[in-house]
Amino acid sequence: PLTARSTVPWRDATAMLLMQGYRFVPRRWRRSGSDVFELRLLGERVICVHGPDAARLFYDPQRFERAGAAPRRLQKTLLGAGGVHGLDDAAHRARKRMFMDLMTQRRIDELVALTRREWLDALPSWSRRDRVVLFDEARVVLCRAICAWAGVPLPERDVRRRADDLTAMVDAFGAAGPRHWRGKAARRRCEAWIEAVVDDVRSGRLDVSEEQALDRIARFRDVGGQPLDRRVAAVEVLNVLRPTMAVAYFVVFMAIALHEQPDRARRLRAGDDEDVERFVQEVRRYFPFTPFLGARVRSGFDWQGHRFDEGTLVLLDVYGAHHDGRVFGSPGVFDPDRGPAAGDSGFELIPQGGGGFRDGHRCAGEWITIALMKTVCRLLTGAMTYEVPAQDLAPDLRRIPPKPRSGFAISHVRASA
Ligand code: HEM
Repeated sequence: PLTARSTVPWRDATAMLLMQGYRFVPRRWRRSGSDVFELRLLGERVICVHGPDAARLFYDPQRFERAGAAPRRLQKTLLGAGGVHGLDDAAHRARKRMFMDLMTQRRIDELVALTRREWLDALPSWSRRDRVVLFDEARVVLCRAICAWAGVPLPERDVRRRADDLTAMVDAFGAAGPRHWRGKAARRRCEAWIEAVVDDVRSGRLDVSEEQALDRIARFRDVGGQPLDRRVAAVEVLNVLRPTMAVAYFVVFMAIALHEQPDRARRLRAGDDEDVERFVQEVRRYFPFTPFLGARVRSGFDWQGHRFDEGTLVLLDVYGAHHDGRVFGSPGVFDPDRGPAAGDSGFELIPQGGGGFRDGHRCAGEWITIALMKTVCRLLTGAMTYEVPAQDLAPDLRRIPPKPRSGFAISHVRASA
């Protein structure tokens, strides 16, 4: 096998990553001519891996662990400290079961109904305005719905600032400077808010149904039988609220795709569930969101002629994988009718991670995300009409996470008859 140290570039690429955003890893992949290549990031030697075989490897818990994988700057913003993302083995399985047990079809249907109601309730006020920024309003709808669903009280006067803070944590994930600091401050405020709410549940001052996330998390006992530290409990409640704001980015991507393909929008209005699902899946493939994922080598091994030393940080390319012509033909074309990826093995389409839900780190909210996207797709195509004034709609690939600068402005909003 190649000895990694002889091939690792000496120059740190963090500044390039911040400059090139989503294009950075795919460019390095193309230049290297290999599905395994090395970089230096945040002063550390890392191995990048690309493609479905690499994804399968990355999700093998014998080979990789998450302890120590997330950089501190992500813990201060996107993820928090002590949550499920960074756990391994039995501790991870127990915590993950708590999340997955929330995701029954009945509970997902309830979240969908709440979201639909909030959206329809908001429509009259959107109609009265000259211009509505879809990203901002979708966040508010999703924030109201997910807080109600999870059992977290959200007084009317707090809705906008909580939605802003929850979004700021997501928005900070590929940032340096002011956007990072905003995310950090938002996390501090949100953890303090939710710690107090967890205290209220534990002391009996707040009564929530036992099937709601807040109650489950407040009363969860870890493998050692201990309740979660209030800070960690807050991190886990925020692991339900915060990523739901990420769905707002996908709402904007759906709106862009519908705007650019008006015939498809018309067909989707009358479309069956499968048409809507195919559209949603193509949005999750085509548009950038998760750039890559990280884990550390548990004990050294060789793979495809490369040495993976114990403790090495390994990054799995996500955005580049969705734009690999060997797997998705004509990847630069948005085509919901493209059918399954070549050699579909479950490790091709991985916008929310791959592998198993219960045993692995695949996103606990993937079913919710898909259900919410389908609901919003139906609302955008069937429950309302709107115009799209001239604006720059191209998501900026240098920004992680990306969104059009305008946030997708719409006008002349009307509820459909
Ligand atoms: C994990 C993406 C929505 C809860 C993840 C991961 C990704 C992801 C990439 C990491 C996978 C890995 O580490 O291997 C997204 C995206 C979303 C979304 C793009 C929406 C656009 C949600 C929602 C929830 C949620 C709505 C909850 C209601 C979680 C949790 C984990 C996770 C708890 C940790 C899983 C674990 O470590 O075992 N998500 N997510 N996510 N997500 Fe999501």
